[in-house]
Amino acid sequence: MTDLQSILTRLSDDMHSDGDWGDVAAYIPELAGVDPAQFGIAAVLADGTTFTAGDTDVPFSAQSITKVFTLAIALGRSGDQLWTRVGREPSGRAFNSIVQLEQEQGRPRNPFINAGAIAVTDEILAGRAPRDTLAEIVQFIRAAADDRDIHINDAVARSEFAHGHRNFALAHFMASCGNLKNTPERTLGTYFHHCAIEMSVLQLARAGLFLVEAAEAPRLISAGRMRRLNALMMTCGHYDGSGDFAYRVGLPAKSGVGGGILAIVPGRASVAVWSPGLNRYGNSLKGTEAMARLAREMDWSVF
Ligand code: DON
Repeated sequence: MTDLQSILTRLSDDMHSDGDWGDVAAYIPELAGVDPAQFGIAAVLADGTTFTAGDTDVPFSAQSITKVFTLAIALGRSGDQLWTRVGREPSGRAFNSIVQLEQEQGRPRNPFINAGAIAVTDEILAGRAPRDTLAEIVQFIRAAADDRDIHINDAVARSEFAHGHRNFALAHFMASCGNLKNTPERTLGTYFHHCAIEMSVLQLARAGLFLVEAAEAPRLISAGRMRRLNALMMTCGHYDGSGDFAYRVGLPAKSGVGGGILAIVPGRASVAVWSPGLNRYGNSLKGTEAMARLAREMDWSVF
């Protein structure tokens, strides 16, 4: 597999030498100051063998990638009951869109757009203390990554709480439709904190192994649930850019506005890439490009 190492090294060198980095997310003030000129990539094979290149040890804000882990926890707790509150269809809208939620009476299209993820967090909370819920989420990710050094960045969470007007609008609208069990403040406080979990690409690629169906991978969920999570990542993981990502990369994946992407090669590998500059969908510009090239060069696709 030295082939994979040389592909990653070349990808990282090419990405670092091309000057168009995209723009970092500015609507979360604490993330607006991140230097866009960074790129890191890590691939962990099903047997645990690891390959990395570029800025691989820098912790970045995982943001919406954490929605994969909260969904796994919510399905474990509530099972199919969860789908009474949230759908499973691609939204075709921006991740923080408001209009569709009203048209569909407060039932978010899928668990990865903001409204859907807020409903998932609300479901996990279910009367428990936010602190305990957050401890469970962090613990799940640490167990998946087999790494205790994964934490929440409180400054990022507070920054988003202070400026998260759109998310408050979504949560209040769901509350008005009877689709929120906790107060908007309580649910969003928990949601903003799990979005603010930080990981390096290496930690994130390791954390994704539980979604790779392989004998050596950690068993945190059943094989059936693993396949369904992968299906949702493929159809909804990149919001209104999901079709384009599926066309270009052909792998189930989840993005975050911190510039990270986690992609799963079923049965074979978990891959994480990070570059904080975003494209027009709010997904990593160079991360998407690198995933497309890696998938092509490794012949990795579910199709
Ligand atoms: O709620 C938000 O807007 C952020 N905490 C997460 C959004 C996000 O990561 C979208 N992904 N590209």
